[in-house]
Amino acid sequence: MADPRRLPRLDAFTLPRGIYLDGNSLGVLPTAAQAAIERRLRQWQVHGVAAWDDWFGLAERLSPALARLVGAHPDEVIATGSITVNLHQLLATLHRPEAGRRDVLASALDFPTDLYALRAWAERGGGTMRLVPSRDGYTIDAVDVEAELARGGIATMLMPVVQYRSGQRFDVRRLTAAAHAAGALALWDAAHSIGAMPHTLHDDGVDAAVWCSYKYLNAGPGAPGGLFLHRRHHARGPGLPGWWGHDKETQFAMASAFTPAAGAGRLQLGTPPILALAGLEGALAVFEEVGVDAVRARSLALTERLLLLLEQQVPEVRVVTPRPHPERGGHLAFAHARAASIAAALRRRGVVPDFRGPDLVRLAPVALYTRESDLDQAVAALRALLDAGEEWLEPSTGAVG
Ligand SMILES: Cc1ncc(COP(=O)(O)O)c(C=O)c1O
Repeated sequence: MADPRRLPRLDAFTLPRGIYLDGNSLGVLPTAAQAAIERRLRQWQVHGVAAWDDWFGLAERLSPALARLVGAHPDEVIATGSITVNLHQLLATLHRPEAGRRDVLASALDFPTDLYALRAWAERGGGTMRLVPSRDGYTIDAVDVEAELARGGIATMLMPVVQYRSGQRFDVRRLTAAAHAAGALALWDAAHSIGAMPHTLHDDGVDAAVWCSYKYLNAGPGAPGGLFLHRRHHARGPGLPGWWGHDKETQFAMASAFTPAAGAGRLQLGTPPILALAGLEGALAVFEEVGVDAVRARSLALTERLLLLLEQQVPEVRVVTPRPHPERGGHLAFAHARAASIAAALRRRGVVPDFRGPDLVRLAPVALYTRESDLDQAVAALRALLDAGEEWLEPSTGAVG
């Protein structure tokens, strides 16, 4: 049973200097990830190519733990690629424009790479990309997504589970059902939700999803991401076949014809980066021990505390993250005309936030390694720099991420 009192697990991480509130850009180093990477490195050093006897199938062996994080069957997920590559793979596999239904739908606030991939596949199929606009510049109204779906003509919808700027969380089940009712596929980007909260992708009927593992999963910079492909699509061959997606029993028979592996594993492309995959191997062990329900419970408690501290002590900044828990991800974002300078000044004072232009500072109190006192000190630092008058208006030293 998940128990949030067992968190934070400060002993399980090596924390960078300062108060680290940027785990939604790059998570910190888990001791278990370091150990796993060192182990895989030694295997390479000692055994050379023979180490592949152990490395072969490593991604598949991570599937049960990954599946628990996203609410899937193990054969519906695979650790591979990046969000960008996996989106192209899923769109090549699933996106089927037909007469009267050629468009794709996303939100105007989506991460650029998602929009680039989606637009490319829309245009390839003779359709256009429709973007649901934001009414306030920070959030998207679910009814606007539903209304656009209901207009018809959409073959594929792609939405973020949690929006990367404001931290708004969407109702996956509701919008998936709306997409299906309109005859569209429902694809989801879980970059800002995996490792921060539980998911129920299979039961929600999601067609496919992608995520990265360098944020809340703490698997390391550029570690392999992952994808989910619902069982209902497992009879399909990959749109972009590669030899690592071949049936594992016969992969090394080197046949010229492609026989797909079982399940989502068939969407793998080439040789996996074993050292980076080892980072994920170690990082997942932390979640296996703690349980993602406990992570979500503590995450909500921390964002709630941060919200109250900001409201009480720094009323001049405007938190744009939705207040209701079901609509909140793992970070808070506040808007300020001088957001870039504030983020830079906070870093000079030993607090690590990040900045998303033009006007947002994001603060991620990651449940696994953030303490309440970190938030108290971070907000006190923010109050102090605003009180210091113009000091923080110095030109920005550059934004993180
Ligand atoms: C929502 C979202 N999608 C995609 C990406 C990046 O994709 P990739 O892992 O391919 O670089 C990010 C990175 O921050 C993101 O926040």
